[in-house]
Amino acid sequence: MSTTDWPTLPALPDPATAAVLGSGLLEELSYAFSGPFHFLLPDAFDANLRALRAAFDETGVDGTVYFAKKANKAALWIERCALTGAGVDVASAGELREALGHGVRGEDLVVTGPAKDPGLLGLAVRHGALVAVDALDELDALVATVPSGARRPARLLLRCLPPDQPHSRFGMNEAELAAATDRCLRAGDAVRMEGFSFHLSGYAIQPRADLAAHLVGLCLKARVQGLEAGRISIGGGLPVSYTDADSWHTFLSEQNSGHYHAGKSFGSGDFYPYFAPAAGADALRALLAARPEGHDGSFAGLLKEAGVALLTEPGRALLDRAGATVFRVQGVKERDGYRLLTVDGSSLSLSEQWFNSEYLPDPYLLSYAADAPAGTWPACVGAATCLESDMVSWRKIPFRRRPGIGDLLVYPNTAGYQMDSNESPFHDLALPPKVVVDRTERPRPRWRLDRHFT
Ligand SMILES: Cc1ncc(COP(=O)(O)O)c(C=O)c1O
Repeated sequence: MSTTDWPTLPALPDPATAAVLGSGLLEELSYAFSGPFHFLLPDAFDANLRALRAAFDETGVDGTVYFAKKANKAALWIERCALTGAGVDVASAGELREALGHGVRGEDLVVTGPAKDPGLLGLAVRHGALVAVDALDELDALVATVPSGARRPARLLLRCLPPDQPHSRFGMNEAELAAATDRCLRAGDAVRMEGFSFHLSGYAIQPRADLAAHLVGLCLKARVQGLEAGRISIGGGLPVSYTDADSWHTFLSEQNSGHYHAGKSFGSGDFYPYFAPAAGADALRALLAARPEGHDGSFAGLLKEAGVALLTEPGRALLDRAGATVFRVQGVKERDGYRLLTVDGSSLSLSEQWFNSEYLPDPYLLSYAADAPAGTWPACVGAATCLESDMVSWRKIPFRRRPGIGDLLVYPNTAGYQMDSNESPFHDLALPPKVVVDRTERPRPRWRLDRHFT
């Protein structure tokens, strides 16, 4: 059977990942760890950050990037943020402590998430972090944490419930925002109300531009009332392209239940959109250039005219091409027309599988046997657990060489959300360590363990 009978989704070429794959390092590390592991590429993170900052500089918009820490637990990214002066978006006391502990200043943190507990609010106030307030009772709790006569006020944004996503459980509606603005005024020196925020589900540009422009309007009104209101945060949601347009659309039009183990079926809406016409920094550029509804000029122009700064909290986009996940094949079964591989870890190390979806970019096969026959060898990938549903890939991936025991499967571009958000020591399997590959252009890449690898 030819590869055209089996849908593929090749990852976009990435020289840094290719250099690691070709270096022999992964075989050694797989032997050393005796289990799956992730590798991290800090240069990619730095490049993504520079690209986002360049998009701000090109338009003259006063913009700040906060890395959404939830997207990956490694200490590495926080260290990069501390060194490059980027902010960090934290959503728990643990994340806040990690960020401080790895050198990020409190004033460079934004604290998001619903109904933050008093401990987290207290820490945020003591360290001068910006709090995105999600509800009126949370605002009261935040004000209550500020001791009278305190040197530091509570710095806050008021989070808006997106009118187009009225079922979201996050943010405040217009009436609540008005009440919150009043309470900020009454709280006087105890608070510094710096503006408004939102986070939208989905990746569309125009609704973000429209809602962000609305928040600029709210800032102008709040200033008239005597509040500072000089910044808005648009949350995360800058999309990432994992593959090219053609591959993505062909995949969607071809895939059907015959292409998956056990006749599993996915609708096209079940998948992350693995291709975006404007991704990462280009999505930010498109947003700044968009014309918000009811305005004649660009969103960038509106921000500058109003003197409002723009905060973004990208997670996935900062981690684009910044890491990959490596499993070793430890068993191979023949099935009717395809193979069932079993690898040395679980799908808890590839989180997409836990959202009734599938992580689609094709894994690379590093063959153990030098003479593994070439051809088309479709195979799905199961986990080393006793759960029928624990599949790393339900899809029968058309490998170009016959997969065998001892081969490595390298899932590309997994740093954004795939690596650790669902990891678990189920079955007493070790959590996959994270390896930082510092320079890929050396003849042999240098590696070290991320400090936060357990
Ligand atoms: C408030 C907030 N900010 C930022 C993010 C990061 O989003 P992304 O990784 O899509 O950029 C999220 C994700 O859920 C979020 O809820």
